[in-house]
Amino acid sequence: MHYHLLCVITKLGGITPVDIKQGSISDNSTSVVNTTRRKFLAGATSVLGGIGMIGASVPFVASWKPSAKAKAAGAPIRIDVEKLEPGGRLVVEWRGKPVYVIRRTKEALDAVANFPQEALKDSDSTAANQPSYVSGFARTQPGKEEYLVLVGLCTHLGCAPIYRPDVGAKDLGGDSWLGGFFCPCHGSKFDLSGRVFAGVPAPTNLEIPPHSYETDSIIVIGIDAETA
Ligand code: FES
Repeated sequence: MHYHLLCVITKLGGITPVDIKQGSISDNSTSVVNTTRRKFLAGATSVLGGIGMIGASVPFVASWKPSAKAKAAGAPIRIDVEKLEPGGRLVVEWRGKPVYVIRRTKEALDAVANFPQEALKDSDSTAANQPSYVSGFARTQPGKEEYLVLVGLCTHLGCAPIYRPDVGAKDLGGDSWLGGFFCPCHGSKFDLSGRVFAGVPAPTNLEIPPHSYETDSIIVIGIDAETA
């Protein structure tokens, strides 16, 4: 994908890395961060500080060097989500794209289940780029509703939407904001299933990449569920 200049510069917008594991970065968008993670943070400060500095001044894609494995064309990425806390997010790179994995809370799932249909462009994801084995308001495989797997690129011009799970955020609509993703480039908004709001520039829901579950806590990005 050709990256819009502003999009590239804002690739790390809203991402505050606090953990690196198996080639992934997770952020502190959630309100819950456990003690173990904080301890890990202390040990990783110098590494993460470097990432933060790079993210502030250098385009994301150029600065975020993928592992040798990730460089291999089409290589699948295995993600261990066991320690991802409810409300938290992991970000990994797959085929040069950021992929978000969100562990949704019960409240978040209730929000997407009851989201006003008229406020969404495509509530049933009929025009969305997503595998045939994900469905429904949760946009997941059956039984896997807790974990949302998305390509973190806005469907307008490819900026990285910011994960904003903070319900009631005043800058995003106050009481009507039930958590979701906000693209700062041109103001597109998405709910916590990556469904695009009506009346914003992004034309379609956020893409869901091919993925499967190796175990209950190991998600493999790049291998379809049917062929796993
Ligand atoms: S890139 Fe334009 S709104 Fe996201």
